[in-house]
Amino acid sequence: MTSLTSVLSSHPMTKGLFITLEGNEGSGKSTQIAKLSAALSAQGKAVTVLREPGSTVVGTKIREILKDPANSICSETELFLFQASRAQLVHDVIRPKLAAGEIIIADRFYDSTWVYQGWARGVNLLAIEFTNKLATVGVEVNKTFFIKVPLEVCTARIKSRGTLDRFELEGQKLLAKIDEGYNELSKSFPHRVDVVDGNRDIETVHQELLAKTMRLINQ
Ligand code: TMP
Repeated sequence: MTSLTSVLSSHPMTKGLFITLEGNEGSGKSTQIAKLSAALSAQGKAVTVLREPGSTVVGTKIREILKDPANSICSETELFLFQASRAQLVHDVIRPKLAAGEIIIADRFYDSTWVYQGWARGVNLLAIEFTNKLATVGVEVNKTFFIKVPLEVCTARIKSRGTLDRFELEGQKLLAKIDEGYNELSKSFPHRVDVVDGNRDIETVHQELLAKTMRLINQ
């Protein structure tokens, strides 16, 4: 009988370029993704911007459930909901776009699950790894930019938001754990994960991300 592990790794994606931005709450990822995709589009590149959870009809509904502070959700349910959203996104958008040789920029992907549900919530890391594989069916991220900002900057940016979601409401303790998790992640995958100092002006951070992305495109 074919083992599940071999089934899960039997569809590697080789075309296209898959970039993710990761970071704590209020790290400025969304601003940077908007600027990066605009700069690449202006150069005639086919770019798709996605966010997780979300970016499909089902994923958007799952996003609402996950972010709603009225919902009490245990860590394992959280894991399955994120993976459900991811599986749909990989199936509907990511695999076809990468197969067509396009560029995808995602606001969070499987590293968020490792950091939030694994490192911060304490869900078994083998379960994280296994479900990440199941949801992504061989799709791998080519480059991850971890936008690192000091915790006090995250806190200030979160406070300036009108309404807070279920994660933002958890406050300082979760932020510190998430920062710790991303530091561990970047040490574990030094070739894939680039730590980018997000505590600089928007344009300076953008120029660094654009230069690094252009190098990936041209290599
Ligand atoms: P955001 O789109 O505003 O960053 O909100 C997504 C929230 O979901 C954020 O708090 C991080 C969290 N998250 C996880 O806990 N696990 C995951 O796998 C993903 C993709 C996000």
